[in-house]
Amino acid sequence: MSILNLELKKVVDDSYEIEIGYELMDKLVEDLEKGLVGNIRRFAVITDSNVRDLYGKPICERLIRAGYGVDLFVFAAGEKSKTRETKANVEDAMLEKGYRRDCCIIAVGGGVVTDLAGFVAGTYGRGVPFINYATTLLAAADASVGGKTAVDTPLATNLIGLFYQPSKVYIDIAAWKSLPQRQLSSGMAETIKHACLASYDMFTFLEQNMEHILECQKFACEYIAENNCKIKYNVVMKDERESGLREVLNLGHTVGRAIETLSDYRLLHGEALAIGMAAQVQLSARLGYMSEEEAHRVCTLYQKAGLSTKIPDYIDREELVKKLYTDKKVRDGKLRFVLQKGIGDVVEFAPGVFAKPIEEELAREIIMELE
Ligand code: GLY
Repeated sequence: MSILNLELKKVVDDSYEIEIGYELMDKLVEDLEKGLVGNIRRFAVITDSNVRDLYGKPICERLIRAGYGVDLFVFAAGEKSKTRETKANVEDAMLEKGYRRDCCIIAVGGGVVTDLAGFVAGTYGRGVPFINYATTLLAAADASVGGKTAVDTPLATNLIGLFYQPSKVYIDIAAWKSLPQRQLSSGMAETIKHACLASYDMFTFLEQNMEHILECQKFACEYIAENNCKIKYNVVMKDERESGLREVLNLGHTVGRAIETLSDYRLLHGEALAIGMAAQVQLSARLGYMSEEEAHRVCTLYQKAGLSTKIPDYIDREELVKKLYTDKKVRDGKLRFVLQKGIGDVVEFAPGVFAKPIEEELAREIIMELE
């Protein structure tokens, strides 16, 4: 017998642009005409029922006018649609329409759409290019950048997916004006998280300008769009696959994701994250990494953004403790938390280690004490 060595060393350049601006639909078509995704002429535009008329159809019309082949694939808006079943439905619809490997997917919408459509792109024909056109603050702040694609399962959110980078991300700030206040507040949760973990200046900007942001004033929206992206890509560029540093983006998510699933998606992602961040700052203060006053300041900012930091009565707190074990950071059966160091930084527990094992009893105490 012989042993053959299949050498597959790769140098990959997955770099891409993030363009922040207003009404970028024409720019998207212009970029495609200039060869953004090479010679591809066929586009599957994936969107949800909220975004279909506002952005999905207008993008399709522009692409058709430019001579491209286009179909629109729409699923019901909301986190409950972010499932393997929706993914399969979209894939079957694409297969039916004759889409093969020579196509590109354009995800148009918020975090649910960009996560799900990115996952479809990563597996369709073993991978076709995709573009994110982000229309919500949550997608702008987090979901559309960084290449994490996924669907939820009944057990927990985002457990099944892959790292798959888009060819370009468009962040259309004009779209935020069409968002209901609840969605805008939910998007603020990731924005505040970014300030908490990386920028004291951004945190004070948010404290001073929350009303302007919630009114979608231009200067405030541009500031948060740019700063969210900078903080996120600085982390992703150093640790795309979450072998260490990228875990910092999980700040507040250990409890947040567990609450989101237990609420059966009555809570939006950001609403659940606000509560998760409240738990995280209490834990960080308890362990001496931040002061009680700083922890209070973080909770106050979440409240100013229109987000409650209280655990809803319908959540069983013992169930919540059990649910923490579905977190992706769990190692050897131990809960691990990312913790804040004051405001604008996180704790590095050892070189390149940003999550700390926490005893269940301590996690339970924090959850029981939370309002
Ligand atoms: N949303 C966390 C991350 O992108 O890593």
